[in-house]
Amino acid sequence: MDSPFQAIKITDTVYWVGAIDWSLRDFHGYATDNGTTYNAFLILSDKITLIDTVKAQYMDEMFSRISSVISPCEIDYIVSNHAEMDHSGSLPKAIEVIKPEKVFASTRGKEALSLHFHDIAQFITPVKEGDSLSLGNMNLKFIETPMLHWPDSMFSYLIEEQILFSQDAFGMHLASSRLYNDEIDEYVLYSEAAKYFANILMPYSKLIQNLLVKFKTLNLPIKLIAPDHGPLWRSNWHKILDLYNDWSSHLKNKKAIIVYDTMWNSTEKMAKSIGDGLISSGIDTKVLSLKSNHRSNIATELLNSSALITGSPTINDNIFPTVLDALSYLKGLKKQNLTGAVFGSFGWNGKAIDLLTDYMKQMNIELPIEPIKFKYVPTAQDLLKCREFGIKIASFLN
Ligand code: FEO
Repeated sequence: MDSPFQAIKITDTVYWVGAIDWSLRDFHGYATDNGTTYNAFLILSDKITLIDTVKAQYMDEMFSRISSVISPCEIDYIVSNHAEMDHSGSLPKAIEVIKPEKVFASTRGKEALSLHFHDIAQFITPVKEGDSLSLGNMNLKFIETPMLHWPDSMFSYLIEEQILFSQDAFGMHLASSRLYNDEIDEYVLYSEAAKYFANILMPYSKLIQNLLVKFKTLNLPIKLIAPDHGPLWRSNWHKILDLYNDWSSHLKNKKAIIVYDTMWNSTEKMAKSIGDGLISSGIDTKVLSLKSNHRSNIATELLNSSALITGSPTINDNIFPTVLDALSYLKGLKKQNLTGAVFGSFGWNGKAIDLLTDYMKQMNIELPIEPIKFKYVPTAQDLLKCREFGIKIASFLN
């Protein structure tokens, strides 16, 4: 058919009909430097089924891709695996245009969609864990995955094609002309997957561990994992499951990050000397100025770190604003098993050090050593003490 955007055939019966958002640079405080995709899928079974929709602004692109294969009015069922609006934003219009026989979501999905779109509940049939849906010649099975990424989330598994539609899970914010994982540079692929996990899924690590156990027990034969963002995993998909297991385990390792900002470079000098102490003790260390590192990239570095060392100058009896911003963001991501330490420079009082210490305690970070602080500009002797401070922190990581 004549459509400006074309569907991409995945199998004889399944097409990708999503949208590419080349321009997205912020997702709720997460810097999406490489854009994203909103993946939606069309199953040409007896009951033609659309799996998820796209962000509202990309609705025309989705309809165009669907129209390159069939008339949208031919769709019988819509399955909404996740109520967040990057996947459900086009659902009300899709229901209006397509007039599907049925729309399926989890029970909590029905509730969440109703609270987003207000007059949609009448159209939605709830499904629950383990339910199957006959599509005529094919079958879908539903697996509830609460908090991966929202309470409503679920997977849909297309039995005959062995495709797992996993909504946010195993996804990444990466706009690409390539649809499959094995077509993308591995460094880019796994960096973006890690960034997505750190910034979106890390708070739910315990639930992810449970899900991985359940998933292993189900032992589903899988040819393709099709998330709602980024590439589809068609080869070596076990690796992303193994990485999810590693990332959600929060195991101790020998990596530390030093996160700081500075006014007249005193706190920066301290950061670098502390870093040198850690490095000399064999700790994989990153010294991350908040002038040049976005909070979401710091979250990614924290994902496989065991130490978070924060530094701030005192400004107006307070923590420097960028440091507080980063810590507030990281606090919500709930990284576990962290050792920490605090440092900083000050002019007439060192209040930021006390406030930072309190904040780190609220984050359940273990603080085995007293903070270090210097008035105005640290001397060479002071910086040697910072280096010793780094060595001391390292002793808790080795
Ligand atoms: Fe991609 Fe939780 O939405």
